Amino acid sequence: MKENELMLTSLLDCERIDLAVKARELTPEQERQFRQMKARRAQGEPVQYIIGKTDFMGIALVVDRRALIPRPETEILVELAVSNGKALRQDGKLNVLDLGTGSGNIAIAMAENISHAQITAVDVSAEALTLAKMNAKTRGVHGRIRFIGEDMSVYLKATSAEARKFNIIISNPPYIPTEELARLPADVRNEPRTALDGGHDGLHFYREILKYAYTVLSPDGLLALEIGDGQRNSIEKIFAQYPQYQRVEFFKDYVQTDRIVMARLSETF
Ligand SMILES: C[S@@+](CC[C@H](N)C(=O)[O-])C[C@H]1O[C@@H](n2cnc3c(N)ncnc32)[C@H](O)[C@@H]1O
Repeated sequence: MKENELMLTSLLDCERIDLAVKARELTPEQERQFRQMKARRAQGEPVQYIIGKTDFMGIALVVDRRALIPRPETEILVELAVSNGKALRQDGKLNVLDLGTGSGNIAIAMAENISHAQITAVDVSAEALTLAKMNAKTRGVHGRIRFIGEDMSVYLKATSAEARKFNIIISNPPYIPTEELARLPADVRNEPRTALDGGHDGLHFYREILKYAYTVLSPDGLLALEIGDGQRNSIEKIFAQYPQYQRVEFFKDYVQTDRIVMARLSETF
């Protein structure tokens, strides 16, 4: 759907097919609201923030400036984690850790697609967590997601000191190098900086996650991460520092860019 159509269908709470008739009958108030929406869009605000919603794997989510807008590439990450992780622990609970949950898209999709999954969702942003909790409640999966407001490194370090283990660790961490942030398109610059800034080379969170993930994964566990453009070689080098990770595999996105990396702790699982 074109952006104007998206805004109008949202404003009029109708389907695209109804627009031809309904758009001709806009009340003066609706016309004013539509003008306001278009003005916000012209300022570079993403259309998803303006209409306040998006779709992630067929799941309707509320989105606003508190969190990153979930991207289609992240659906590939979740689909791979679901298809590779679903078979684990079928006779019990599958413990999933989502690092940097944002709007809650990954945690909610994992909960909805794996009925025996219990999710721990961590984010340093209190605002994002409020949004994620609301989305989880709307989707009826809040009872299976534990939300934790903490820095992911602090959380991983503390958890590695406990004996608790996760069967899947999944994350779409911030991965844009700091100095590239200013050059991003206006739409993206409207999204929270905390959701984008991956440190000086964009790799800060991969170093942190790989440093601790093997200590909190179960022996049959799966690590699944989204990665940024051109980061594959650097991430392979970080993996090479940790012989604990086996079967490090990369997967491409819809435009044939390496976008996902998955690893396990054992050759046999
Ligand atoms: C790229 S966004 C991903 C959001 C969401 N999971 C998605 O796929 O759309 C990264 C998320 O990590 C969070 N984050 C940034 N730094 C963090 C940190 N040090 N510890 C935990 N979460 C962090 C951000 O607030 C943001 O929600």
